[in-house]
Amino acid sequence: MNITVGVFNFLLCYTLKKRIGGVFLEIMLPQEFIYRKREGKTHTREEMEEFFTAYMQGEIPDYQVSSWLMAVFFQSMTEEETTNLTKIMAESGETLNFFDFSTKTLDKHSTGGVGDKTSLVLAPLMAHFGLKMAKMSGRGLGHSGGTIDKLESIPGFRVDLSREEIYEGIKKVGCVLVSQSKELTPLDGKLYALRDVTATVESIPLIASSVMSKKLAGGAKHIILDVKVGKGAFMKDLENALNLSRLMVKIGEMADRSVVAVLSQMDEPLGCSVGNSLEVIEAIKTLKGKGPPDFNETIITLGSYLLFMSGVVKDLSEGSEMVANALSNGRGLDKFRELVLFQGGDTQVIDDYNLFSIAPIRKVLPSTNSGFVADVDAHDIGLASLILGAGRRKKGDNIDLGAGIVVRKKVGDKVEKGEPVFEIFTSSENKLRDAYPILEKAYKVVDKPIPPLKVILEVVDKG
Ligand code: URA
Repeated sequence: MNITVGVFNFLLCYTLKKRIGGVFLEIMLPQEFIYRKREGKTHTREEMEEFFTAYMQGEIPDYQVSSWLMAVFFQSMTEEETTNLTKIMAESGETLNFFDFSTKTLDKHSTGGVGDKTSLVLAPLMAHFGLKMAKMSGRGLGHSGGTIDKLESIPGFRVDLSREEIYEGIKKVGCVLVSQSKELTPLDGKLYALRDVTATVESIPLIASSVMSKKLAGGAKHIILDVKVGKGAFMKDLENALNLSRLMVKIGEMADRSVVAVLSQMDEPLGCSVGNSLEVIEAIKTLKGKGPPDFNETIITLGSYLLFMSGVVKDLSEGSEMVANALSNGRGLDKFRELVLFQGGDTQVIDDYNLFSIAPIRKVLPSTNSGFVADVDAHDIGLASLILGAGRRKKGDNIDLGAGIVVRKKVGDKVEKGEPVFEIFTSSENKLRDAYPILEKAYKVVDKPIPPLKVILEVVDKG
């Protein structure tokens, strides 16, 4: 470092007194804070608090925070820094406390995938076992879908319940599925929006603090994290996914929550349906005991951990058996019906799928050869589904609830030339024309038999 830069940085090390909201705070110059991270130094909790308090109060502009995010992207953060950031984000807005009801409160988070309709099945199933789950979810962005858009394909279903209604739903039904409150973790909301447009999403400490801040603020005692791994997920490889999972479990423990991370494959879509109405129909079929095997296995694994963590069962095998039985005898479906009714939705859709909006243009994509399916690319299918109208290119775009894709052949399936691989649903010939070539390349058939993909890759818990 030359002498001029050295003197300049020395001067930056001075803190300045600044008046914020009528209170004098010692705050470090923002550029010094950024400089420290750029040079790989460790932040104290105090300086992080000062930086982000000033940011939330509009004293520090987005461009300086973006620079800091990029510095974190390259230099990373220690576990302690990540935990501190998580707590600062969790405390930046309102927090919920469901412990008033019992300690049997649950939460779940998926890191995002294609065809992931797990919350729609897991929440009512857990409520059936007497547990409480207020699941806050987001909308889809990019190639992966969002639970809130899916729920809106049920006519009349309200996702924006008030705090009082959420508490009432927990008491009466045992679960609610609602959109993330703007008052919960507003700092995460601001940082996430910046990360989205500054190529700083894929940072393990930033993802861990973003996810865990929402879970801590959400107020549940037992948290299951569904960490997706593969082509259709943020985490493309197992090693990074394991590092992320270990960090999130540790943060949860430090905040006195029990957290288990289940790593599940996202090379091919989960289940067979991708798109809003199509996925809700598949979730209902699963609650009727007619779900696809990979989706059933995901639900049984996540459900058995939640039953075990909250002390409902003695061990995981008892939990698995109970969840599998509840799926096959339709017990979760009764709770799902109660949930739809409580949130203002039309419960008739549960018995008559024709009441869902399904896009009018339907086309089958046939296999070009015979053999065994070796690949059904989750990323490409998510992208094609978005182009067909089921997702948004940018925030605020309208979506076509009835658009999407049904995957007729999964990895390992035998296929004959001319047999349908995908069934495509859209409302626009132009969109069909754009999505079709992506789907033509989204599957691969080989001569030799291929085993189905492993669904659950690893589990990380505190042990
Ligand atoms: N999901 C989140 O909530 N935050 C991230 O940073 C990534 C996935």
